[in-house]
Amino acid sequence: MQAANGEGMSRNALLFTSVAELESSLQAHSYLPDRGLAIAIYLALSLDKPLLLEGEAGVGKTEVAKVLAEILGRSLIRLQCYEGIDSNQALYDWDYSRQLVAIRAAQAEGKPIDDLFGGEFLIERPLLDAIKKGPDAVLLIDELDRADDEFEAFLLEVLSEFAVTVPEVGRIASQRPPAVIITSNRTRELHDALKRRCLYHWIDHPGLEREVEIIRTRAPEVTQALAREVAAAVGRLRTLDVAKRPGVAETIDWASALSFMGVDGLDAKSALDTLGTVVKDHEDQRIVAAHLQRVLGDDGD
Ligand SMILES: Nc1ncnc2c1ncn2[C@@H]1O[C@H](COP(=O)(O)OP(=O)(O)O)[C@@H](O)[C@H]1O
Ligand SMILES: [Mg+2]
Repeated sequence: MQAANGEGMSRNALLFTSVAELESSLQAHSYLPDRGLAIAIYLALSLDKPLLLEGEAGVGKTEVAKVLAEILGRSLIRLQCYEGIDSNQALYDWDYSRQLVAIRAAQAEGKPIDDLFGGEFLIERPLLDAIKKGPDAVLLIDELDRADDEFEAFLLEVLSEFAVTVPEVGRIASQRPPAVIITSNRTRELHDALKRRCLYHWIDHPGLEREVEIIRTRAPEVTQALAREVAAAVGRLRTLDVAKRPGVAETIDWASALSFMGVDGLDAKSALDTLGTVVKDHEDQRIVAAHLQRVLGDDGD
């Protein structure tokens, strides 16, 4: 228990004594990470660094933040990025309609208007909320690649300070940073300056064994045999030249749907009947249908 006295020691470092412990906590919350991801999360928490997770859609990036919040018993604060997002939507804004009401009320009563830029008119957006909650929060900055360069630069500033000065209110700062998970689907390259501030991990689609386990964990009604056939089929499907490769959620949905339909062995008919649970693009469905034997593993291998 000497660690408890360590002032310079991150508060987070006390939460998990080893990567293995973190790994089993994640598993207990139905998240099965690859070893590299578990190490990255462990280090990010221990060193108080943001963790940047990149990977294709559906590989489990967002889920990391959700599960971490659950495990740590913290609130999850989510900043969903989109094209055109700016600091007013991310940090704070003023409640203009309430200010207007206050002005009208003051005028009607013939009183002077008091503080229009006080805390009561301040709308806290996710970043301000995270600054205030500090170590009691997990901050998820989701799909940062969708935001523009300018916003990324602004974010970098917030991440380096975890403080903000609202001119009318004063400085708000957190003593310790929240745990920060940043995700990107890599539709564009993020800037080096931001990457330098973060630890980085690329999440791949899971390998066969792990995807089978994920299905069994998330959809326990699916038999081991069916889970294996579905995971193998999705693995082969991902090698086709499709526009959207199915993510883990699609694998789980496909296995659940097949199980629900009473299918215990994947064949051409059951695969085509339920294709909409795993391939959600018309052109991709055509491609899969045209290569169905290969997807089902029936082409000689
Ligand atoms: N390693 C994993 N263990 C358990 N479930 C997973 C894992 N990876 C993905 N999933 C499942 O896939 C779903 C989609 O993951 P998500 O985090 O939304 O993907 P992304 O943010 O990368 O697009 C999750 O809700 C979860 O059910
Ligand atoms: Mg996501």
